Amino acid sequence: RQLVLPRDKSLPPEVFHILPIIGSAIQYGDDPINFFFKCRERYGDVFTFTLIGRKVTVALGPKGNDMILGGKPNVVSAEEAYTHVTTPVFGKGVVFDCSNDALMQQKKFIKFGLSTENFRAYMGMIEDETYQFLSTDSAFAATFNTPNRDWGSFNAVKSLAELTILTASRTLQGSEVRSRLDKTFAQRYNDLDGGFKPINFLFPSLPLPSYRRRDKAQQEMSKFYQDIIQRRRDRVTNPEDEEVGHDMLATLAEQKYRDGRPLSDEETAHMMIALLMAGQHTSSATSSWILLHIADNVEVQQGLYAEQVKHFSTPDGKGFQTMEYESLKNLPLLDAVVRETLRVHPPIHSIMRKVMQDLPVPSSLAAPSESGAFVIPKGYFVLASPAVAGTDPRVWENPAEWDPYRWIRGGSGAGAASKDELSGEKVDYGFGMMSKGTESPYQPFGAGRHRCIGESFAYVQLGSIIATIVRNLELRLPAGKTVPPQNYHTMVVMPKSPCDIEFRRRE
Ligand code: HEM
Repeated sequence: RQLVLPRDKSLPPEVFHILPIIGSAIQYGDDPINFFFKCRERYGDVFTFTLIGRKVTVALGPKGNDMILGGKPNVVSAEEAYTHVTTPVFGKGVVFDCSNDALMQQKKFIKFGLSTENFRAYMGMIEDETYQFLSTDSAFAATFNTPNRDWGSFNAVKSLAELTILTASRTLQGSEVRSRLDKTFAQRYNDLDGGFKPINFLFPSLPLPSYRRRDKAQQEMSKFYQDIIQRRRDRVTNPEDEEVGHDMLATLAEQKYRDGRPLSDEETAHMMIALLMAGQHTSSATSSWILLHIADNVEVQQGLYAEQVKHFSTPDGKGFQTMEYESLKNLPLLDAVVRETLRVHPPIHSIMRKVMQDLPVPSSLAAPSESGAFVIPKGYFVLASPAVAGTDPRVWENPAEWDPYRWIRGGSGAGAASKDELSGEKVDYGFGMMSKGTESPYQPFGAGRHRCIGESFAYVQLGSIIATIVRNLELRLPAGKTVPPQNYHTMVVMPKSPCDIEFRRRE
């Protein structure tokens, strides 16, 4: 039986918990999506749970997404929610360690570098890196390089993490970073990454050795990038090197804030670290999930291969031409595979903000049965969940099923639940409404002013990696295995181990 204490009626309903400070941390940490769906059944679209001493109000559904992601920065603040974790990793002066206005300008600088011209150059580089990886990496080389088509096996998470950093450094990060991806870089990266875990959100200042290693690695990484910047300025790097001109360092060197001030070397270095960290886990998780699903689904795998043959076979039919950036848009199945994977496995399942002023909840979203509105008090956190939105049975037909063809079938019936299935609330999300807006149920890249700027790069990187793998390998899951469940204990949602995939070279 549940003990119900009297509460302030203007506060959103509070999730019942037994442990005072810990609250619902265990249920949230183990499976946030199941936890949120269960809470919604009991409390409605808006409810507050306790997370290690913090009050976190979850707002679900289109209006909930809109309230949080479309909120004004002086009311719901991303920097106040994240800076204690991101600043020690990225460094000072960038992203959440500066005003919101400065961040918006920094995002414009980065967008400038993510240009069509640069993407055109990246396609061949990523294809080349991926092919080299299959030919030389110890998990692939022996099987890949022999003419008899034996089956080999690789660990999806491990291999895709390596391939993601190789391809991102060759393109965005620049050829100097790519050529210095040695053990020292890997160690620094791992130490930085060790400070970018869920525990760092909850316990920002524990005297742990991993925090000391993180701080040391941040300083070294910052110096590493600043050295590259200095060498370019001194023209030690070969100016003839064509690839250098297309990377993000080249772009940032030319950017100025509105007041005319250029980025300092330190700011540039810290933005490069931020980009490295923001893109690495998100893209490597997504490519791991994609390969696991297509290994499990021969029909989609064959469809992807047929799409490549149709568009890129060489005239003699014996090989493939490099994909062009423009042609990515004409590959509906490849596009749908990426899109569908991000619907079911958005790497970032919870988006948080800190409430800076009492926040009234629109009564169209949730209201107490008496008159008046709920108010989320200043000091609370608010949470929107792209993972709930992407798998909400009120919106999607067979939401748990990974079915890329739903994006190709299109039309209002393809992804949207038919109206009869909607319990009470009538929401019709035809794909015309899959906008980037703050009310969209499809938000793997977030929405509003903090929306991801890396989406187009992610599509280039994922598209080229997946296409190159499908051109060269047949994939399958080991006998008796299915796609593994999601692991929510990592910073982004990864497949649980074991996550091996078997492969052989295509004929
Ligand atoms: C922000 C997802 C790849 C750079 C975000 C946010 C999400 C997201 C959900 C919003 C967070 C919030 O509102 O609190 C993803 C996914 C990716 C991906 C799913 C790949 C599949 C990348 C890449 C880059 C990048 C490759 C860099 C090249 C950023 C940055 C922000 C951001 C700088 C911060 C924006 C801000 O706070 O204003 N990303 N991301 N992301 N992303 Fe990505």
